[in-house]
Parts: sequence; structure tokens; C-alpha cells
Amino acid sequence: MTLDKFFIQGGNRLTGEVTISGAKNAAVAIIPAVVIADSPCRIENVPDISDVKLSTQILMEMGAGVKWINKNTVEIDPRTIDTNTVPNEIGRKMRGSYYNIGALLGRCSQAIVPLPGGCDFGVRPIDQHIKGFMALGCTYSLNDGMIEVVAKELRGAHIYLDMVTVGATMNIILAAVKAKGLTVIENAAREPHVVDLANFLNSMGANISGAGTDVIKVRGVERLRGITYSIIPDQIEAGTYMVAAAATMGDVLVKNVTPKHLESITAKLMEMGVSVTEYDDAVRVRRDGPLMKCNVKTMPHPGFPTDMQPQMAVLLALAQGTSILNENVWENRFRYVEELKRMGAQITVEGRSAIIEGVNCLKGAPVRAVDLRAGAAMVIAGLAAKGTTKVEEIEHIQRGYEDIVGKLVGLGGDIFCRIDPSGAMNEKIG
Ligand code: EPU
Repeated sequence: MTLDKFFIQGGNRLTGEVTISGAKNAAVAIIPAVVIADSPCRIENVPDISDVKLSTQILMEMGAGVKWINKNTVEIDPRTIDTNTVPNEIGRKMRGSYYNIGALLGRCSQAIVPLPGGCDFGVRPIDQHIKGFMALGCTYSLNDGMIEVVAKELRGAHIYLDMVTVGATMNIILAAVKAKGLTVIENAAREPHVVDLANFLNSMGANISGAGTDVIKVRGVERLRGITYSIIPDQIEAGTYMVAAAATMGDVLVKNVTPKHLESITAKLMEMGVSVTEYDDAVRVRRDGPLMKCNVKTMPHPGFPTDMQPQMAVLLALAQGTSILNENVWENRFRYVEELKRMGAQITVEGRSAIIEGVNCLKGAPVRAVDLRAGAAMVIAGLAAKGTTKVEEIEHIQRGYEDIVGKLVGLGGDIFCRIDPSGAMNEKIG
């Protein structure tokens, strides 16, 4: 655990412009996908975050050439990869490392990958990934926390996913791009990053249709060539700044976004009385009056994203009246509620619902970033609160938000990152 912490003095309105980085959840699939190509790829608009650094480090340790052209552009040469095993130490640090299974199957029909880590939302099974690989002709075994998946020959298959899962959809696409014949994935995830991965693979020569709908067809091809590709903007980073603007009575132009990807977030903000104006590749979020209560249910895309649920809870905590927030994707994504209550939020969790009684203001307090989006929520709460908030365990936030301090300071937020100067700060904010 890092000793660095965020210190936030709340109360400033966020105003001005912020530029959104590339999508984390697209990048962590596209980077491993490069191993299927038979020549180097240049990937642009890569977010400068620790999960991406881990993804490239995994490839480097497997023998790939990895060269950073600048902080957001990387060139990866997969030709020198000389193993089908992902190193255990780094691989289990992140959830997205499981994309190496599909990618290595696509490359050489065999993969040995540590069981995935990532944020703790209760049980996070990968049975649907396995079901897909087995349908494609693979067998698998588990040994010492590593999963080995192997196929004599990958053959296209008809796969019905029992629930909508982003990870399984993308992993099966990766394994199927070079399989013999046609693979059909039914009940597929429709998230923008699924479409981005399909676009990336198609640009390399794959034959994937239907990405963005719930039926995806992958016709196997012989080879994929290296290309230059630019990752889509991060829907969740954009949504996080939109909510931060609303929470602080701000006026922010959120640039480099795809407004269509933000529709569910925009709709909820408008329902709460926040003004949102859409431009071609930007949205302006402005709030002048009180926030109205509103009910939110998280759903797979195009529903309201689970990855915006904790941030939205902060806004609902400041709204007039009682709101209900339903989590329909993850079993246990309310661990942050106890932290938010330390700041004066009035929230009761009942199963998969949070009942939120709006309060007039939140108060600064020492809180923990219990996971990535929970951490973003604590930052928003700190910016909107009266007094000083200290956010601990910020390494979770750094996994998914590029330069969050710099971007917020650019908007007028009073936030800085430093090693906690002992208990003095605790006394001040006690
Ligand atoms: N599920 C299964 N079996 C499976 C796979 C999933 O039961 O084999 C269940 C999960 O337990 C969950 C639901 O299906 O209840 C959805 O899981 P999904 O596979 O869609 O999630 P994921 O691929 O593991 C990605 C993102 C998450 C995001 C979810 C949902 C990455 C690396 N992670 O996870 O992002 O919450 O999709 O949109 O892409 C985040 O960025 O903060 C984050 C956690």
C-alpha cells in the first residue's frame, strides 16, 4: 500500500475544461490483443494509469518489445514473445489480465494465466469465459492459482452467455478471431469497449460483425497484421467529471468524449436538475440550483453503468429527498457506503439497494478508497464537502484515472497528493 494520500479542501466550484483520456477497460483488452498480430502495433490515446502499465509490463516480461513513444502512445512488437505463460506476480494484480487467456489462445492455442485480481465486489467468477473456451474446443485445468487453457485446434462455435458479461464477451472474441469457422456469441455485452476491441481486431484483418448488439459473429481468419489504432475516450472517467461538476455547483466542459456513450449518465443528471449540453465530442455540465432526488438502477450498457454507481451515490446524498440506488451487476459494490457515512451521508444498504436520504452538506473526514470507483466517489465527496478530506489507499484510484489531481486542479479544485505528514493532519480534520 502506498503512503501517498489525497488531501482535499472542499467548497470550490469546478469550472473550466477537462480533457478525457483513453478508456481503461478498452486499453486493458486491446494491449493483450496485440499478441495475436504477426507484426508490431502502435496504440494511441492509451491512458497513463497503473492498470495499463501492468498490462504492458506483462507483455514485456513475456518477451514482447514495448516502446513508449510518449505517455499515451505505445508501440508493441509481439514477434519476440517466447512464452504462453503470464507471470504470476504481475498478472494477479489486475482483473484485465484474464484477456491474456483469449489473446494467447488466439496466438498459439495455449495459455497459462494467474487467476485474476482486481476490485473486491464479492464473488467474481469466470465460468462464462471457460464455457466459451470449452465450446471453442479447449480443455482447462487449475494449478497453484494458475489456469491453463489449451486447444488442439480452435473451432468456431455457438455460445450463449448465461448473463451479460463484458469480460467473457471480449475474451471469447479474442480466442475466436483465428478459430476455424464461425463463432456466434449470444447475449453478448454491448459496452463501448467491446465495440472498440472489435474495431481494433477488424482493422488488423479480423472478421467480426455485430459488436455493439447482443449477437456477435466472429468468422476466423488466418492472420492479423500490426496497425496503428487510437483507443476511444473513457466513458467512466468522463462521467466522473460530469458528476464532480454537478456535485460542486460547477460549470465544466468535458472534452474528448463520445456523448452517445454518456447518455444514461446525462439522462440521470438532467432528471436531478443539472444542465447538460451535448456537442460533437464534448459535454458541458452546469448546475445552478438544488439537486432533485432520483432513482438509479445499474445495468449492462446501454443501462446506467455500475462503474458510475458510487460517484452517483455522492450526488444523490446531496439531493433533496430520498433516492434509491439499485446495483444489478455486482453482488457487493456498496463497501464505500461506510466511508461516505463518515462524511455525513445518510445511507442504508438493504441487499442490492442503497436508500439515500439527501443531506444539505457533507463534512470533510479521513476516508479510504476501498476500490477504484469508490475512490473516485470519495474525491467527489471531498470536493463538495465543507472542510478537509483525506483519502487513503489512493493506489486504487491511480489504477484508473490519469492525472486526476492535475485535472481537478485545472478545474479549480483544491486537491493535492502527498505522504501523510504523520498524525498532525488527522488532528486537524479529526
Ligand atoms: N460474471 C459471471 N461469470 C463470468 C463473468 C461474469 O457470473 O464468467 C458475472 C459477474 O460476477 C458480474 C457480472 O457477470 O456479476 C458482470 O461481470 P463482467 O464480466 O461484465 O465484468 P468484468 O468483465 O469482470 C468489467 C470491468 C469492470 C466493470 C464490469 C461491468 C474490466 C477490466 N473491468 O469487469 O470495471 O464493472 O465490466 O461493466 O473491463 C471498473 O472499471 O471499475 C470495473 C470494475
